[in-house]
Amino acid sequence: MAEDLVISGASKIEKYENLLPQIKGLITGETNQVANVANVCAALKTTFQWYWIGFYWVDSPDELVLGPFQGPIACTRIRKGKGVCGTAWETEEVQIVPDVEAFPGHIACSAFSKSEIVLPVWKDNKIIGVLDVDSDTLDSFDTTDEKYLKEICEMLVLTF
Ligand code: SME
Repeated sequence: MAEDLVISGASKIEKYENLLPQIKGLITGETNQVANVANVCAALKTTFQWYWIGFYWVDSPDELVLGPFQGPIACTRIRKGKGVCGTAWETEEVQIVPDVEAFPGHIACSAFSKSEIVLPVWKDNKIIGVLDVDSDTLDSFDTTDEKYLKEICEMLVLTF
């Protein structure tokens, strides 16, 4: 049950290590994509209190569309190559942005967003979307987040 999520661990790594099996339990056996994606967003938001976390899905050859998220309202559509999300999609590479003001072409959905990480979400060797996490403090994300968020995305797409 979602209300049974246990948030424990002092360090970021401990939090992720405790969260991963809980996310696995939450989504395993459920095949509804929206339900699983929404619960993953809620579990991450509850654990880390990031400003915004959500998914954008590939909707056409050159556009992403907003999917389930937790946080304030956000841009609905992002073109390929635009902003951090569109760059992650186009380059097929994780983007870790310590200061969004310093990222050329950053799409400012909110002035509160200061740093972010965006990971491509892969299924069958194709990018089907991106996971976007925004923080209201500078330099919030590193390769630890990249490693664990990638694992979470991999777990998630197995249920699609
Ligand atoms: N920061 C993103 C836009 C989406 S919102 O922040 C939720 C970007 O530049 O791609």
